[in-house]
Amino acid sequence: MLQSGDSVISIRDFDSEEIQQVLSVAARMEREDNRDLMRGKILATMFLEASTRTKLSFMSAMLRLGGEVLDFGDTEHSSFKKGESLSDAIRIVSGYCDVIAMRHPWEGAARLAAQIAGLPVINAGDGANQHPTQTFLDLYTIQKVRGRIDGLSVGFVGDLKYGRTVHSLATALSRFDCRQIFVSPPTLRIPAGLLRELEEAGVRYEVSEDLVSAISKLDILYCTRIQRERFADSLEYERTKGAYRLDLALLERGGARDELRIMHPLPRVGELSTDLDDTPYAVYFQQARNGVPVRQALLSLVLGKE
Ligand code: CP
Repeated sequence: MLQSGDSVISIRDFDSEEIQQVLSVAARMEREDNRDLMRGKILATMFLEASTRTKLSFMSAMLRLGGEVLDFGDTEHSSFKKGESLSDAIRIVSGYCDVIAMRHPWEGAARLAAQIAGLPVINAGDGANQHPTQTFLDLYTIQKVRGRIDGLSVGFVGDLKYGRTVHSLATALSRFDCRQIFVSPPTLRIPAGLLRELEEAGVRYEVSEDLVSAISKLDILYCTRIQRERFADSLEYERTKGAYRLDLALLERGGARDELRIMHPLPRVGELSTDLDDTPYAVYFQQARNGVPVRQALLSLVLGKE
């Protein structure tokens, strides 16, 4: 179970019981007033890659629990500009706070930080690798909107190669009895290593390029952006960026069930039509709001306040 002093680096480190522990603390955070729980504690946010939701919801989570936040700011105005190493920066920041939430473009950066820091480090996204706190809020959202996680068919569409939210959520769902359907252009397929991991866990899955045919089978459709920043070749990005555009007409053509719920980690850049926003299908704004109680739960668990 997640406990005082632990870091949160990869969803692979969590079994279903440990996931449920976080979800149930998050539900309590949402229900109860905990405004003094973190009094005297400081969260340092080190976001060395762009973020709106993750960074602000971490800050909001800590502030709403009565704690304080120290923000590293952008790299342009830090001593990275003078050549300081990540290891040295982590050693320094860890002297100023009780817990670090870190986003970094390098895969493995959060694990390295956790080995150096001597205090809990929470991975807020490391390159195309993992985004475990997003996964906890995705699972929390699924449980809230569908009443359960077991027994659901979950589809993923978009950039399944570089999408760390997809990688983390697919791994997490393998801890539950879920069917998974991966829809992408051939160049952005789900990594073979992740599929092997799902096979070893006995997960039922399908890989497809045909979104319309998949729609009627789904309880949840997790839509993702084609991520320009992960492409080495900008022509390849231009070729694939418009591969899928989800809108109401496409859902109707595919025979979507009334209970289908559309999720998206956001931001969206054209793959998800605004004509879905006011329909019962759309839960992506609720999903983003769920980041606050889920991150409150993670902060309180790793700081021994639970
Ligand atoms: N979902 C998510 O990670 O959003 P941000 O990049 O804005 O943090």
